Amino acid sequence: MTARHVGQARSRVEGRLKVTGQARYAAEYDAPDLLHGCLVPSRIARGRIASIDAAAALAIAGVVRVFTHADRGDVARFDFRWRDMVAPPGSPFRPLQSHEIQFADQPVALVVAETWEAARDAAALVEVTYEQAAHRTDLHQEVDNAYRPPRKRFGVPRPPKPRGDVDKAFAAEPFKLRARYGLPPQHHNPMEMFATTCVWEGDGRLTLYDKTQGATNVRSYIAKVFGLKKKNVRVVSAYVGGAFGVGLRPQANAFCAVMASLALKRSVRVCLSRREMFTTGYRPDTLHTIGLSCDSQGRLRSVTHDGVAATSRHEDYQENLVNWSGLLYRSDSVRLDYRLAKLDTCTPCDMRAPGAASGVNALECAIDELAFAAGIDPLEFRRRNYAERDANDDKPFTSKSLEACYAAAADAFDWRRRGLAPRSMREGGELVGWGMASGAWDAMTMLSNARVILKADASLLVETAASDIGTGTYTILAQIAADALGLPMEAVTVRLGDTDLPWAPVEGGSWTAASSGTAVTRACDDIRATLLRHARRMTGSPLADAKLDDVVFDGGRIARRGEPARGVGLGEAMRTAQVERIEGKGRAWPPVLRMMKYASYAQSAVFAEVRVDEELGVVRVTRVVCATAAGRILNPKTARSQILGGIVMGIGMALHEETVTDHRLGRVVNHNFADYHVPANADVGDIEVIFVDEHDAKTSPIGVKGLGEIGIVGAAAAVANAIFHATGKRVRDFPITIDKLLNTAEVA
Ligand code: MOS
Repeated sequence: MTARHVGQARSRVEGRLKVTGQARYAAEYDAPDLLHGCLVPSRIARGRIASIDAAAALAIAGVVRVFTHADRGDVARFDFRWRDMVAPPGSPFRPLQSHEIQFADQPVALVVAETWEAARDAAALVEVTYEQAAHRTDLHQEVDNAYRPPRKRFGVPRPPKPRGDVDKAFAAEPFKLRARYGLPPQHHNPMEMFATTCVWEGDGRLTLYDKTQGATNVRSYIAKVFGLKKKNVRVVSAYVGGAFGVGLRPQANAFCAVMASLALKRSVRVCLSRREMFTTGYRPDTLHTIGLSCDSQGRLRSVTHDGVAATSRHEDYQENLVNWSGLLYRSDSVRLDYRLAKLDTCTPCDMRAPGAASGVNALECAIDELAFAAGIDPLEFRRRNYAERDANDDKPFTSKSLEACYAAAADAFDWRRRGLAPRSMREGGELVGWGMASGAWDAMTMLSNARVILKADASLLVETAASDIGTGTYTILAQIAADALGLPMEAVTVRLGDTDLPWAPVEGGSWTAASSGTAVTRACDDIRATLLRHARRMTGSPLADAKLDDVVFDGGRIARRGEPARGVGLGEAMRTAQVERIEGKGRAWPPVLRMMKYASYAQSAVFAEVRVDEELGVVRVTRVVCATAAGRILNPKTARSQILGGIVMGIGMALHEETVTDHRLGRVVNHNFADYHVPANADVGDIEVIFVDEHDAKTSPIGVKGLGEIGIVGAAAAVANAIFHATGKRVRDFPITIDKLLNTAEVA
């Protein structure tokens, strides 16, 4: 392969469609006689519906019907049919199927009308009375009831077995720390809100335009729940306006649109409001008790990490929260524990680097605290405890370039100039602080299929059901296919997010580049072999005896390696063979053998500078430098965007983001962008993104580790550690808001 595009910075191939409004999102598809549905939210967090009076709603002109649990349709009875591909153990929430209230703002009715305005008006008029029961929504109150999940969630490892004598190693060392860190619930808040336009095709078939990270997941869920044949349900999610994990699972809007469509035999659209986005899943609130000890040389001797995480009453949502603490640094004594506590909320949902973003945040703050206690520079401290193996699983890494990340980022940041003591750097009226942290995220490859079609006009069509949730999948697949066949990127059309296309799993876990990228590579290999066969058979072919290894595909031609004149054009070879199109199929498999022998992670080092107004407590993140090693970087431009996004979310985690529940009511009170703060431009200073060269042939067939999540891991800790360095104040309860900073005493 001649790499003309792979590895080069390329703009998003769908960028023009997006900025000109031509890329259509789920709520933008139209259908004849389209009906509009609006949900009615529960006013209580737990209890039951006593009565629903829809008379006033039905009196509004244009209202067609009000659905409640009273007219639950012909749907599946057993939980397994309601469980989607990424569901955790438990009983998935079933919209409008019961009078029981499981969480505040749970949908209790669906109003369907000829216009969205009529549906919204009428939804406000549905009178619901409740029998209220006591609810529990405060994780801090439930810690004593926390339990180890009896059933494991697929794909999420349990904590490793304890190793060494932790208590002895803790007691014996001169420097130690035991502290509790808290992270509040956070909501994903993608720009595009959930929406489903369910088109009634008239012959028993439905087409769902749905905002999802997994068209195939939504299709199988809808088919199972409603007892439909899969071939009669098509799900399209061609463009997705951000998701961050909340789009992994099918949402109530998809269920409700299909339910109404089947009942009314018409097309129905159901969109969620920003407020309703707060009922779809969240990063669970977590509490972390961390114990660390080190000897006088700063060698880590013991690590304990007890994590308690929120889940819903009905499902045991799980993520890898604490295992990172046994993996990131070398320590002979490690004991990790992970427990859940049930709350009366909707089920939490994976959110960018689920588990790692929270667990590594706590660990990296604790490491900073211990390094300070031992009087060692925090970067030097991490270097002294560098882990050469994955001690949790006792496996070597396929590659680990964290040291190179440390070196590159520290150099770019000018870390050498940092004064060791807190409050030692000041500029004008502001305290300046420099902090750092490390990050890691799994490198995964999942079962995925792709189809590539080459036409005689030397145009290429690349197809897979995988989505592009804004991560750059369209672009990297176009780059891979263009290079594989030696064509310009303009010759390649990529089609994604459609169940009519070859099966792929949800886009998540940062696995899509490795998985779909491999599937497309293999589909192109298929085409290359076919093309060469045609070229060899041409009369007087200069390639008559050539094998695949002897030729290069470049400039629209197949030619002998090093002899560009001795070759034939792709179109010429196809026309001579009288074929109109060549279809290639490719599949990526999870690398099971590799996974048995090796651990594989993307790694990062992130450095942050803050400036703190001592009197007002205002924190500004003025500079971040992040170096990432994630195997092969397919496109430095879209890759950089992923890291930028992760760091911005990390700044939000450090300073702003918090879903606030009024526990008296059990209801989220800041379910809008005025009250739920995500970083705005003014909150984000300079961010420098560095990619460390890493060639790793073992991690995945195309050497890619994935980048969607690693950017957020460690970012908030770097900011928190910088705040400590600036102020001498350690706030362990995130986000670090002005009030907390002003009310915390200096420890140094
Ligand atoms: Mo990711 S949190 O698997 O979308």
